[in-house]
Amino acid sequence: MEKIIDENKQGNSLVLEQNTENKRKLYIESYGCQMNFSDSEIVASILAKEGFNTTQQMEEADLVLVNTCSIRDKAEQTVRKRLEKFNAVKKINPGMKVGVLGCMAERLKSKFLEEEKIVDMVVGPDAYKDLPNLVQEIDEGRNAVNVILSKEETYGDIAPVRLNSNGVTAFVSITRGCDNMCTFCVVPFTRGRERSRDPQSIIEEVNDLWNKGFKEITLLGQNVDSYLWYGGGLKKDFEKASEMQKATATDFAGLLSLVAEAQPKMRIRFSTSNPQDMTEDVLHVMAKYENICKYIHLPVQSGSDRILKEMNRLHTREEYFGLIDKIREIIPDCAVSQDMITGFPTETEEDHQDTLSLMEYVKYDFGFMFAYSERPGTMAARKMEDDIPDDVKKRRLQEIVNLQQEHSLYRTQQHLGKTEEVLIEKASKKSDEHWSGRNTQNTVVVFPKGDYKVGDFVDVKITDCTSATLIGEAVGYSKNN
Ligand code: SAH
Ligand code: F3S
Repeated sequence: MEKIIDENKQGNSLVLEQNTENKRKLYIESYGCQMNFSDSEIVASILAKEGFNTTQQMEEADLVLVNTCSIRDKAEQTVRKRLEKFNAVKKINPGMKVGVLGCMAERLKSKFLEEEKIVDMVVGPDAYKDLPNLVQEIDEGRNAVNVILSKEETYGDIAPVRLNSNGVTAFVSITRGCDNMCTFCVVPFTRGRERSRDPQSIIEEVNDLWNKGFKEITLLGQNVDSYLWYGGGLKKDFEKASEMQKATATDFAGLLSLVAEAQPKMRIRFSTSNPQDMTEDVLHVMAKYENICKYIHLPVQSGSDRILKEMNRLHTREEYFGLIDKIREIIPDCAVSQDMITGFPTETEEDHQDTLSLMEYVKYDFGFMFAYSERPGTMAARKMEDDIPDDVKKRRLQEIVNLQQEHSLYRTQQHLGKTEEVLIEKASKKSDEHWSGRNTQNTVVVFPKGDYKVGDFVDVKITDCTSATLIGEAVGYSKNN
């Protein structure tokens, strides 16, 4: 393997691992959650061994892959539009083959081939190791489909090829699938049962990233708190494990400690936490290790007990407040963010007010808010009518977005006058003379470049802010640099 330094549009150098002997070109596009972006790196790694180097130009690609998202109808429509674009490109590049990966592939299966004529190959999230065979099928002129879900696959043995990397931050997946069955959510159907990856392979990947110059990793899972390794297999089968396996099992708190100690200078983040599964142990581990970032993404979806129950979120509003109080007590400077859904079936104005009052209690640092989108096959779609009119969903959404913006500003203002450690990631989008990075709380910090460079840990004095960004001046390298 030879390293080729490439230049992206911002002028940051991208280090792409390209095998000079590879002759075919792969173009890969990813939509949706961070897990999809991470999976695309696994796919690129599998296909590198089959003679494919990645390219940023679709027009010259032999194989075009799109890693898809099904979480809301709009996400699926975005992918359908992209397929139209692929169609246009195919007219100038007739030899190009098109494959769909990810959640839409899993949800639609071979129906995809009928609905979208451009598609040659459909591959679900657990079937990427079959890509060499599937590519051979399409090379020989046949369509290819593999959407089999697995109880074991974690891709723990595949070293991802880092795509579009800034060389500083990277994702490391630790679990796959989800067993929670929130009634609105398509993920348990498209990504299957929850499995955890061997901690040894996680540590090896983290060590490797450090050796390549990466400074921050995000451990990824649909529900990281339910990470459990006892030698492989589904979490639900843990009861049947031997005494020895139980005694040496690693839970998420254990994994976090292992990673934090393996690379004491590497910044560690994780996503996503689930209120019903998060343990106090995790909070103590976060408080104990300075290199674990003080930030928790803790989706709640609704502030109404009745709606939480309909959503099969297995906690109450009071229990959620209890967890927030614990976070504030154990990690006083911890940032917390939310995901919220408005207009879930049967949601009343009173339920909506409960969501607003829950937000008032927490005052989240930021949030990701969505109007409910009915997903075929989910419990909510089967049992409940999507009865909240679009204009009501949208109005409620706007109200929570506005409130979040107030809270975000309140939170960013708390940083004014403080000096905070920032890891530089890239040039600021708005100004080429400024760096952009994040503090431990995950808030974006922008400051004049000086002599610093991407990948440096810098102490920045915060002098100004918007609701989304902190603005400051570097005062020197931080002690961790
Ligand atoms: N546990 C996962 C959740 C993935 S879905 C994780 O890793 O974050 C991300 C968010 O999308 C959810 O938290 C929820 O707020 C939103 N979402 C999921 N299904 C939805 C639906 N049917 N309609 C609207 N929003 C949805
Ligand atoms: Fe979806 Fe709930 Fe799992 S939101 S990914 S079913 S925790």
